[in-house]
Amino acid sequence: MNTPVISTRGLTKVFGYSPQAAVKLLREGMDKDAVFRKLGSAVGVYDVSLDIERGRTFVIIGLSGSGKSTLVRLMNLLLRPTCGSLLFEGEDIVGLRGKDLIDYRRNKVSMVFQGFGLMGHRDVLGNVCYGLEVKGVRKDKRIDRAMEMIGLVGLSGWEHQPISSLSGGMKQRVGLARALANDPEVLLMDEPFSALDPIVRRDMQFELLGIQKKVKKTMVFITHDINEAFKLGDRVAIMKDAKVVRIGSPEEILSDPGDEYIEQFVRDIDRSKVLLARNVMITPASLVKIGDGPNVALKEMKSNSISSVFVIGDNMDLVGIVTLDSAMKARAANLSLTEIIENDIIVTDPDTPIADLIPIAARAKFPIAVLDPTRRLLGIVTKAAVLSSLT
Ligand SMILES: Nc1ncnc2c1ncn2[C@@H]1O[C@H](COP(=O)(O)OP(=O)(O)OP(=O)(O)O)[C@@H](O)[C@H]1O
Ligand SMILES: [Mg+2]
Repeated sequence: MNTPVISTRGLTKVFGYSPQAAVKLLREGMDKDAVFRKLGSAVGVYDVSLDIERGRTFVIIGLSGSGKSTLVRLMNLLLRPTCGSLLFEGEDIVGLRGKDLIDYRRNKVSMVFQGFGLMGHRDVLGNVCYGLEVKGVRKDKRIDRAMEMIGLVGLSGWEHQPISSLSGGMKQRVGLARALANDPEVLLMDEPFSALDPIVRRDMQFELLGIQKKVKKTMVFITHDINEAFKLGDRVAIMKDAKVVRIGSPEEILSDPGDEYIEQFVRDIDRSKVLLARNVMITPASLVKIGDGPNVALKEMKSNSISSVFVIGDNMDLVGIVTLDSAMKARAANLSLTEIIENDIIVTDPDTPIADLIPIAARAKFPIAVLDPTRRLLGIVTKAAVLSSLT
């Protein structure tokens, strides 16, 4: 098995007075509230053991005060654990100091906070460049890198805009681009989308999934929204009263919550949102047969206001797709449909979960075709349908 990027074993953080005495009481089974009443010490995180695998999105979820922020601050060593161990790529990093600590924060982990940490007196480019500047990266190199990241988060054209002119969602994109520009091993995100309105938030979730597919970073994402957790997470850890009470994939947690607290916690999620392609596919507004000519294809597209149409064979089997553009050219040049058919269609079977289609839909040129095993066209899934399943 590959070494996890981050591992914790018995990780614990007690704030305030007599942390060691507090740990002793916790070990004897006293809960966090009782410890606070007795000693006045606040237990942030207690006895957390987890592994974060490379390239995956690990989501931490829990009610306010359950210890989520404390846990990620321990991971980037903004806080020092009271006890327990913290490994990065298999090495104990609890004792990192000085230059090693600076190196860890600059090169290994990057944090994205909620609407925090952008410099108002700099423009978008200046903000995204900042971390690279601190690292001493040459000016032309850092501008290249920053421009690439700005493109990745969908802000091309905004490089020289002042931060104050951006919407909340755009600011969050800048924060994300800045963290990515550093090319860290791990991106830590503490409720990055919680201040955004629901529609912008949905866009950002969608965007993040697409970016994650491209950059394949390990991400640790905090939220207290169960829908967001299950949308984004490969694995989800549920925290309660400073402890992690459950870790699993969304599927595992949904199918077997384990206890009543977790069951109540996930009840919120709309199970119908755990959809399959067959649940959201539609019958295409129009189709053309392989024997039809470009004029039929053009008429179909025009009368349905669409810019491409699927082409089928005699048994409803999918042959390909033609676009408005190519059909017009074919008509002018007297070509048949077979000569202009495109084949780079994304196809799926009806039982594929929508979650699996999200990253694909982001870069699909055409609707996704749903086929049965004999390649018969059962329906199509539009990008909009995939997007709206994210609500
Ligand atoms: N610097 C601190 N000093 C004292 N107590 C703290 C400190 N930081 C956190 N705590 C306590 O630790 C516990 C966990 O707090 P934490 O901020 O990690 O929760 P959270 O899950 O991130 O909550 P939220 O969803 O509200 O952000 C709380 O009881 C909190 O009061
Ligand atoms: Mg928090």
